[in-house]
Amino acid sequence: MWKKIFGNKGAEKASAQVPLFDRIDKERLPRHVAIIMDGNGRWAKGQGLMRTAGHTAGVKTLKRILKTASDMGIEALTVYAFSTENWKRPHAEVDFLMKLFAEYLDKELMEMNEENVRIHFLGRMEGLSESLQAQVRNAEELMRDNTGIRFNIAANYGGQDELVRVMQAIAREAVDGAIPVERIDEAVVERHLDTCGSPPVDLVIRTSGDMRLSNFLLWQAAYAEFWFTETNWPDFTPEEFVEALVDFQNRDRRFGGLNIE
Ligand code: FPP
Repeated sequence: MWKKIFGNKGAEKASAQVPLFDRIDKERLPRHVAIIMDGNGRWAKGQGLMRTAGHTAGVKTLKRILKTASDMGIEALTVYAFSTENWKRPHAEVDFLMKLFAEYLDKELMEMNEENVRIHFLGRMEGLSESLQAQVRNAEELMRDNTGIRFNIAANYGGQDELVRVMQAIAREAVDGAIPVERIDEAVVERHLDTCGSPPVDLVIRTSGDMRLSNFLLWQAAYAEFWFTETNWPDFTPEEFVEALVDFQNRDRRFGGLNIE
């Protein structure tokens, strides 16, 4: 079994006041949390390291946050690992990131499977190398019937690109006569999104101080709450994750309506 986050040092410190999990109302958890894992490069610079060391440290944080979210019973966690715009980075960094994804799948696959995680990839998979695509297919297939947390990794993903792919797919169905144009509604769009099968995104977390969506889950974030922190992703802890959840639980979500007692 994964070690519960109560076991680590930071959690012990927090529990000196109120135990970590006790601060959360388990009945009102966000069903789907999405994270923009920003600040790996800045973290590395601050440590006098190469940017790539920031990405390696970022993987460790990701593992901790996935465990935390899974232990808490959050239904879905989506992380922004590589955007359609990230190809503009230096070749060596892109290459490093691709190798890191492959290594991550290689090393973590079995443990994630044992923990009942259901992995799924969002984005334009055909842009990835043949071997990485094969790993992605293998991981998705292996965990297809798992019933635990749905773990979406956005890789070669862009929200606008996703919506263009959705429009193309629906247009094709309309041209083929499979769906009358008048029947195209929000539910039809949802069914064609890369996130189909995941609950609506309730909370978007972005680390490292920037306050923008950066082409992430443009459709899905329509009614999401946003939570920002100055902390760089490699320094983001389960305690801070819990802080975001506590803050989420204090928000008044009206979805365009009124909350009248
Ligand atoms: C943003 O930080 C981070 C990325 C573009 C890559 C995110 C990747 C990881 C956390 C690696 C782990 C992922 C998986 C799925 C194994 P940045 O490089 O833009 O940081 P900066 O804004 O400080 O330069």
